[in-house]
Parts: sequence; structure tokens; C-alpha cells
Amino acid sequence: MDGNGRWATRRGLPRVAGHRAGAEAIRRVVQAGPALDIGTLTLYAFSADNWRRPRGEVAALMRLFRRFLDDETPNLAASGIRISAIGRRDRLPASLAAAIDAAEGRTASGERLHLRVAIDYSAREAIVRAAACCSPGAAPTQADFGRLLAGEGAGEVDLLIRTGGEQRLSDFLLWESAYAELCFIATPWPEFAAADLEAAVAEFRRRERRFGGVTRADTRPSPRRSQRPTHARPTAES
Ligand code: IPE
Ligand code: MG
Repeated sequence: MDGNGRWATRRGLPRVAGHRAGAEAIRRVVQAGPALDIGTLTLYAFSADNWRRPRGEVAALMRLFRRFLDDETPNLAASGIRISAIGRRDRLPASLAAAIDAAEGRTASGERLHLRVAIDYSAREAIVRAAACCSPGAAPTQADFGRLLAGEGAGEVDLLIRTGGEQRLSDFLLWESAYAELCFIATPWPEFAAADLEAAVAEFRRRERRFGGVTRADTRPSPRRSQRPTHARPTAES
């Protein structure tokens, strides 16, 4: 979810107004998820590196997360949406950490969508922590390690969308995104609508995922290579 600050600044508003508008975008997108057949939606709300931002902005974000959980948890529970957080909790304000625990408990039985919010999250740190859980000398398989890392029931990322025009991963779900389809869009997060999510999912469905393999079409010899074409379409040499 990128572009909140720039969205606000362009309007002559304080950056925190962009974050507030961003929270509205979350509500729209989450409600649109199940109909698009999305089983797990992970939102990158606050990276471990975002602590570098001005104290006032960080404090405003923490308050917003807390308010979002207080306001939305009943709706999430009623809509069958399970919410959980990934990332560190020990550096969060105690009241936010408690609100996360409560929201997780209250929505635990939701099965229509698993909404994961990454707060104080760093993919590299998560990888290092998972590695530390392996016993010394152990050689886990990729599948074992992936399970260790994912916890909370999520695995491979199929589609990764970054709004706001930047084209980088910024330490988000690095292991899990090994074969993710990447979608970078210029729209700032506060303007991201259900239709944008729908368009990204449609684009995802058009993509051919080969996971390092080849498709059947790739293995069929092309006429130009296997035989001299008799009625071939004109080529550069003909
Ligand atoms: C993303 O928007 C939201 C958070 C990191 C909380 P930004 O705050 O990064 O917005 P820009 O990139 O400055 O526009
Ligand atoms: Mg940004």
C-alpha cells in the first residue's frame, strides 16, 4: 500500500491525511476480496524500516492501526474474515499489540478470507528468525522451511501488487514471492478501488506461470525450425 503521503501532499494536506484515506481503501479492497476468489490478502502496513519516519507520523500510524482494529473487527467477524498480523509485536505500543490479539481471537473462525496485516515487518528478519528455529546442523527442505516461515497458514504469494508507482519489493514476503506475479501500478493507495483489484486479478489470470518449466506450446517444434515452410507467413528473410 504505497503512495499515501504523496497523495496527501499533492492535495496540500498533511501526510497523515493520506494514511487516513488509505484506511478507507483497505475497507473497500477487503470487502471485494472474497468475490474475486482471493483466499489470503496480505497488506504491508508498516515495515521494520518505517520506524525511521518522523515520530509524529509513526505515532499517527500506530493510532490509526489501533482505530482500524477497534472499528473494523466486528465487521470482519460478521463477514467471515479472519485477521491476523505478521511482524514483530514487541516494539508496538502495548495497546496496539493487545488490540491485535483481540482482533485475532475474535475473528479466528472466519473462513471467507484471511486478511494478514504486516506491521513492523521485515521479510529478511522473518527469514533469519525462521533459520534460528532450525536445529543446528538441520537441513530443512524448502517446503519445511517455507512452512516454518509462513506460520499462520499462508504460503506462496500468487500476485503481488504495489501501488504508488515504485517498482521494488522493499523487504516484503521475499521468500514467499519467489514465483509471485508482480503488478506495479501508479495509482496511489488512497485511490485504489475494488475495480483496480479486479483489474490486477484479471491481469494475473492472463499471465502464464511456468515455475521454471515450459508450456506444451513451447515443446511443440515450430514449423520454421522443423521443416521448410511451404506456405509460411512472410518473415524477415523471405
Ligand atoms: C504507504 O504510503 C503507507 C505506509 C508505509 C504506512 P507512504 O507513506 O509510503 O506514502 P508515500 O510513498 O510517501 O507517498
Ligand atoms: Mg512510500
